[in-house]
Amino acid sequence: MFFKRFMTMVALCGGILVAGCNDGQSSKNNNIAEQTSLQPIVIQGALPVESERMAAKLDKVTVETIGGWTFWKGTYNGYPMIISKTRMGMSNSAAATAIAIQKYQPIAIINQGTSGGHDPELNVFDIVLGKYTTNIGAFRTPQQPIGGGSDALTWHEAFDVLPEDESDPEPIAIRKFEGDQALLVAAYKAKVNYTKGRVVEGTIGSADVWNNELDRIKFFHNTYGTSVEEMEAASVAQIAHQFNVPFLGIRILSNNITNNGAYDPATGEACQDYVLDVAEQYMKAKSESK
Ligand code: 5AD
Repeated sequence: MFFKRFMTMVALCGGILVAGCNDGQSSKNNNIAEQTSLQPIVIQGALPVESERMAAKLDKVTVETIGGWTFWKGTYNGYPMIISKTRMGMSNSAAATAIAIQKYQPIAIINQGTSGGHDPELNVFDIVLGKYTTNIGAFRTPQQPIGGGSDALTWHEAFDVLPEDESDPEPIAIRKFEGDQALLVAAYKAKVNYTKGRVVEGTIGSADVWNNELDRIKFFHNTYGTSVEEMEAASVAQIAHQFNVPFLGIRILSNNITNNGAYDPATGEACQDYVLDVAEQYMKAKSESK
């Protein structure tokens, strides 16, 4: 009985103490308390040159490895963030996304990194915000007999791997995942600080393919409206969509063979700096609206 009453006193005093502490804190500290009560934002990069610069900028960082995937957990300017190295391609990025969602329950996911231009108007160092992200590796091909050859330019039927009607084994449709509006707003806020190129809205096309055929690139640009291609974003969008987690793809052009834009490895770091800024803007808006 005495013990119970003693514990109640301790709990009460503790409560008063905490409340008292909060009252006495500077508004800056209050902000940090608020910031850290948010769920973390996950920022993905496939390669070390697309993730390690962000990881190095985190405070209070811990590293977690699950299977073949690395996650750096920490804070950036007080906001909780997870940097995820997905490795390359659709399967790796899907797995890293599912693990991150289950383990960290993120407030949102940004998939970012390098890409190849499909739009001759875009230059190396320009950044595309994925208003849409779409799979450009899933098709039903026309029928051809043995000896009939194969011509990818005749592949006009996109195969939707996430159809509403799951009884249809050959669902034909182009599926475009829309970028989250609040993440896009944050990306526009950060845009003013990016000086290495333009920041534009566009469509990101993803597949486990590096296309170097200009006719095929033109086909994607004309029929899918792709601005750039890469190997992860649509896969991440697909998984985030099924878990209802806000998603945005952000891709910098590291190369563009449609206008002789030579590959520049420095683009990977430039994109990381921009995206950290986007993530901070997003978390700031979220903490203010809480
Ligand atoms: N085509 C496909 N992927 C590209 N990447 C950069 N440029 C291209 C391109 N032109 C990205 C992919 C992958 C790695 C090869 O770099 O997303 O992770």
